[in-house]
Amino acid sequence: MNLAAVKLRKCRFADLEPILQIEKSCFSTAEAYSRSRFESRYRVHRNNFWVAERTNEIAGYIVACSRGKSVNLDSLAVARKYRNLGIGSKMLRMVVRKLRSKGIKRISLTVKTSNRAAISLYKKIGFEVVRLSKDHYRNGSDAYLMEKIFD
Ligand SMILES: CC(C)(COP(=O)(O)OP(=O)(O)OC[C@H]1O[C@@H](n2cnc3c(N)ncnc32)[C@H](O)[C@@H]1OP(=O)(O)O)[C@@H](O)C(=O)NCCC(=O)NCCS
Repeated sequence: MNLAAVKLRKCRFADLEPILQIEKSCFSTAEAYSRSRFESRYRVHRNNFWVAERTNEIAGYIVACSRGKSVNLDSLAVARKYRNLGIGSKMLRMVVRKLRSKGIKRISLTVKTSNRAAISLYKKIGFEVVRLSKDHYRNGSDAYLMEKIFD
């Protein structure tokens, strides 16, 4: 697949349903964000809520939540059939570039220590592990806090 055929655009309300389907396919019932949580992100953080679209199909999404000069990367996923094609990198690079141009100094995120694909992606884009958080998730899994700082 040609990555150039994947368009990144702001999330629209109608995208929340396909986003929820992707979310459910990626995470366990206990971990997946609910429809209401995505609606809340859409209401409050629409400026930093993006989708990757391929021929009118939602292939992935990314949401960042800002607090002053700091931003938390809240949610990122790519539908299984579109993985390993560069879409996750494309979305993350774009969001990092946009946040940096807005004067954001720090982007942080939390990732399960067992999530090799995501950790590898984040490191590739310049995020570093700054802390291990034991028993971070409800099921007892550990998490890494990662961040990217701009000068
Ligand atoms: C993490 C995720 C978003 C990556 O999306 P993607 O579009 O497949 O990523 P890309 O194709 O851009 O790959 C970028 C890098 O990620 C890493 N990566 C992707 N899939 C990987 C895998 N299965 N194993 C190890 N590393 C992997 C690699 O470093 C890769 O770089 P490379 O191609 O130069 O080796 C995707 O796997 C996903 O949606 N996972 C489920 C949801 C999730 O875990 N989200 C993050 C929550 S913190």
